[in-house]
Amino acid sequence: MKFFIDSADLDAIAELADIGLVDGVTTNPSIIAKSGRDFKEVIAEICKLTDGHVSAEVVGTDAEDMIREGRILRKIADNVCVKLPLTMAGLKACNQLSSENIPTNVTLCFSANQALLAAKVGATYISPFIGRLDDITLDGMELIEDIRTIYDNFGYETEVLAASIRSVNHVKECALVGADVITAPPKVVKSLADHVLTDKGLAAFLKDWEATGQSI
Ligand code: E4P
Repeated sequence: MKFFIDSADLDAIAELADIGLVDGVTTNPSIIAKSGRDFKEVIAEICKLTDGHVSAEVVGTDAEDMIREGRILRKIADNVCVKLPLTMAGLKACNQLSSENIPTNVTLCFSANQALLAAKVGATYISPFIGRLDDITLDGMELIEDIRTIYDNFGYETEVLAASIRSVNHVKECALVGADVITAPPKVVKSLADHVLTDKGLAAFLKDWEATGQSI
């Protein structure tokens, strides 16, 4: 399973990339706004931190504007992936940009039928939002499972990019049901390594080692 980082925090992305945990990055207009940085500049800098896809989202609402913006964003770097909303206009733009071999990430997916449409227009990734479904007491993970089944039924190559991940349990569940990619904030990715018994065991090992008086 690929790990994408859902952030525009360059230091946090670089730290995880150094460990070997970054297969790509996703952003959205809210993440860019939070960074306080110029959109194109920050995307260009993120693109240097990974060879994987870096999603940059269009803000136009009709297909022509999305296509125009997508082509501009794609010029920032070879690994830019154009992120498009799951609307009819976004699907039309996805169809066009895919035909130009521009990688696409169709975002704001909340139903299996929406995911089916994204696959039909050749999206590189579909981004179902788990956390936002859970927030309204629906089952985000059930959506990931349904999309996996539908894509496997018909051999669609669109990758299931599980988004809006809020917890380490979301990551485990995604791995179990076969999401191709997860995108999560740096904090969640770092917490995957945490276990109280690991900390306790390591402290005991180091104490016992110190008592031997040896060094390596
Ligand atoms: C994914 O591409 C989105 O940027 C992101 O996962 C949204 O997460 P949120 O629902 O926590 O804002």
